[in-house]
This record gives sequence, structure tokens and C-alpha cells, in this order.
Amino acid sequence: MSEYLLEMKDIVKQFDGVRALDGIDIKIRAGECLGLCGENGAGKSTLMKILSGVYPHGTWEGEIKWDGRPLVAQSVRDTEAAGIVIIHQELMLVPELSVAENIFMGHELTLPGGRMNYPAMYRRAEELMRELNMPDINVALPVMQYGGGHQQLVEIAKALNKKARLLILDEPSASLTASEIAILLDIVRDLKSKGVACIYISHKLDEVAAVCDTISVIRDGRHIATTPMQSLNVEQIITQMVGREITAMYPTREHEIGETIFEARHITCHDADNPKRKRVDDVSFSVRRGEILGIAGLVGAGRTELVSALFGCYRGRHEGEVWINGVRADTGTPLKSIRLGLCMVPEDRKQHGIVPDLNVGQNITLTVLKNFSRRTRIDAEAELKTVQDEIARMRLKTASPFLPITGLSGGNQQKAVLAKMLLARPKVLILDEPTRGVDVGAKAEIYRLIADLARQGVAVIMVSSELAEVLGVSDRVLVIGEGKLRGDFVNRDLTQEMVLAAAINQPSHHRATAA
Ligand SMILES: Nc1ncnc2c1ncn2[C@@H]1O[C@H](COP(=O)(O)OP(=O)(O)OP(=O)(O)O)[C@@H](O)[C@H]1O
Ligand SMILES: [Mg+2]
Repeated sequence: MSEYLLEMKDIVKQFDGVRALDGIDIKIRAGECLGLCGENGAGKSTLMKILSGVYPHGTWEGEIKWDGRPLVAQSVRDTEAAGIVIIHQELMLVPELSVAENIFMGHELTLPGGRMNYPAMYRRAEELMRELNMPDINVALPVMQYGGGHQQLVEIAKALNKKARLLILDEPSASLTASEIAILLDIVRDLKSKGVACIYISHKLDEVAAVCDTISVIRDGRHIATTPMQSLNVEQIITQMVGREITAMYPTREHEIGETIFEARHITCHDADNPKRKRVDDVSFSVRRGEILGIAGLVGAGRTELVSALFGCYRGRHEGEVWINGVRADTGTPLKSIRLGLCMVPEDRKQHGIVPDLNVGQNITLTVLKNFSRRTRIDAEAELKTVQDEIARMRLKTASPFLPITGLSGGNQQKAVLAKMLLARPKVLILDEPTRGVDVGAKAEIYRLIADLARQGVAVIMVSSELAEVLGVSDRVLVIGEGKLRGDFVNRDLTQEMVLAAAINQPSHHRATAA
């Protein structure tokens, strides 16, 4: 018997001649949790897709040993049969199917005769929901009724339901709140104690440090180091990841704040499927020129619904008024909003951010195509120049602007969406979770970009679940709880505790001074 449950040796993977992985080795023992760290595009997801059979044997080079024997898998089915289960970075749920049906997809419980055994599946799904501390989820409802955070937990439940010997978690916590993350980490610890091995991928390095025994860092498809966590700290992981030290995460925020340019008045959003339920309840606020307004709150508090309604992409019925520069504005559709100078980078980049059929460049210039039209044709050269400038400015990692956008790593897709919206030259820019899935180096770049925009007079509205980020970047912080405005704070001596207290509705006296 081998000491290791899994050994991956000298793995090489090429895409169209580009080496995404260039000779990677990793090893894991039963009951061990390996943290796989690296910048956006380093090759983490690719390596995990090889391990889980998404890329079948033969489409890459190298060797995988499982339990001391060569693993030759043609599909995910084969690796699942061996006990390797992956939770992908992008959600893989079928929105129209129920929570329970999603959990059991491909592994349905049946009655003698072959009919679905719904009662048994519901019972087991409910049990899993309790384990994940989500007893209120109705497992018979379509999964699309629930927000991103809950969907992620359903994805985790689906994986837990398959008896894994090795569980791969690729960015499992990107859309989870702090308390949900705590539950997830406890589950990982519990699995470890039962001898299950885990590979944990996250750009939130404090999580990695909390739960992993060993850290493997990869950079540009190469293995940099494998180190026991006990002889590392978070700063050292970052240095290994980026090959340089990152000193200032948040820019010093010196920018002038001018007059009010954006107002949301009495915004109310009704649940798309249950109009009696209010997702957002009479929220009003204003933002000034050059101001960065952070919007904090727990997942499900109604923040995404609020900003979607402002931008004109909320699915359900909603009321209220948007005023831009003192004029009532019709922001009924995203196109109308963009024309008025109101842009948004949405939370869910897979559904609303990228156009999967277009290449990287086409995605970036989507909203400004008219800038390149010369009577009857498109000035392809000018367009390409713009695209290349944006790729350089965002340090977007892509082999070529003509690559399909879906070929980019998660974090680089996010940068492309951001570049697209910046090109539209917004007066007011809404960013919904702008750094989700983005690595530390790129995060610092995005913060600097936000500060630059503010310096140029753009009003920035940033929804974020990372309190450190909200406090690091914002001039003012709104707190939303259960659809209502629970606090409006000037970000001076403001603490995470104060924001959290407001989010869960404890009285606080640190109110913003009137604008
Ligand atoms: N299907 C594909 N076609 C072409 N190139 C690809 C494809 N999938 C990945 N790549 C390239 O392989 C490299 C590694 O991507 P990968 O998704 O593994 O990165 P990652 O480390 O998971 O990054 P992130 O932290 O952003 O999720 C990137 O340069 C990416 O553009
Ligand atoms: Mg990835």
C-alpha cells in the first residue's frame, strides 16, 4: 500500500498549444486537507478537472495514482465510482429542478419497478440541509428560487451525498457569508476526522490557513512549493503565489466628494415568484460624485435585488424612482441605464456578466461597439487596440483576445466583465461582489481601480460580503438587513462588529452625518 491516497505526477495540459499546466506534482494522504493556492489562471481548476475526469485520460500527459494504482478515467462517472468528488468553481445546478432533484441528479433513489422514490430523496435532502444549518430550505422547490449563497450550499450538499474518499472544493466559499463559511470549514474538519481527504481551493487565504494541513502553490502552471501549513503564514503563501510581496492592499483614499448625482427613492422589490413577499422594502439612499458607497449585509438581505432593480434587470415586480443628476431617470432596462451613465457589474457572471458564445475581445467591447463603427463596417483595428489596452490595464491573463471567454479562468472572466463596464464610461458604477473569485494581487488592483474611478468623479456603489473589503474601500457604508435599510454610516472608526450588529438589527448610534 502506498503512503498516499493520491499522487499526481508530472501533469501537463495544453490548450491550443498553450501550456496551462507544465509538470505539476501533488500528493495527498487519507484524512489530509491540501490547500491548492495560486493566482487567477495559475491552473488550479484545470488540475482539478484532470483529477476528476472532466478532461479524460489521454487529453493530458502525466500520471495519476489512486490508492497506489494508476487511475485511468474517461469521465466524471469513473472518478466518482473511485470516490473522487468535485465541487466545481461554477455552479452546476439545473435551475428549474428542485433542490432535492439537484442533490440526487444522476444518483436518483428509485422504488422497485423504477419509479422515483421522492419521499426518501426529500428525507435525505432535508437531513443534508440540517447538517449544513439550512433547515428552512424547502427541498421540493426549484433551486433557482434561492440566492447564490444557498445554491452553493446545495452544491455542497450534493457532493456530501456522494460517498467521497477525496473531496475537491474549488472556490466553495466565494458566495458564502462568514457564518456559512464557518459551517463549511467544520464539515471539512469532520470529513478529515473520518479519513476523507480534501483539496481546498480558495482565494480567501484565512480559510485555507484555518483548515489545510499542507499548502501546494502553483504559478503559471508550475509547481512552486509544497509546505506544511504549520511552518507557513498567510503572507508567505501570498509571496509564493505572486512571486513578490504585496504591501498595500487598500489604497489610501484621498478623493474629493462632490454633489449628489445618484438617488434611489423608495425602492421596493417583490419576490418574483411570491409577489406578497418583499425582497427589498422601501429603501432610499443617495450617492455623491466621487463617493464610494459600500453596501453590506448578510447573503439574502436583498442587496443584489436592490441594485438589480436600480439597473433595470430585476426579474420581479418593483417600485420606486431613480434620479440621476437631479432628474428622474428611466432605468427600466440595462441598455437604458447604460445610456444614462449607470453601469453595473453583476454578481452572477455566468448568467448576466459574460456572453459565452463571444470571445474575450468581443465581450469587452460589447457596450461600446458603436465607437468602432465606420458607416457600414467595424474598425477592427481600433477595436483590437482598445481590447489590448484593457487586457493590459486589467492584467487580464489570456493567451489571445480571440479565445472564447469561457476558456478564461474564473477570476479573469471577472476582469473582462469589469473592463467591459469601464469602457462604457459610467457616471455611476454599481459593482456587485466585484472581487469574487479574484486572487489577492488582482484584488488590490481592482481596489486601486475603484479609487481611481472615484478620483475621476465616478460615484461607485459596491455590494460586498467581505466586510474587510467594504471597510477598506468605502467612504460610506449602507447596511441592508431583511430588505430594509438598517444603517448608513460614515466610514470613520467604523468596525466590522458595528456593521454586523446593524445587519442583524441591533441598535447602533454611529449614524452618518447628513450629506
Ligand atoms: N477550455 C480552455 N481553453 C483554453 N484555455 C483554457 C481553458 N481552460 C483553462 N484555460 C487556460 O488555462 C489557464 C489556467 O486556468 P484555470 O482555470 O485552471 O486557472 P485557476 O488557477 O483555476 O484560476 P482562478 O483562480 O481564476 O479560478 C488559464 O490561462 C486559462 O486561460
Ligand atoms: Mg479556477
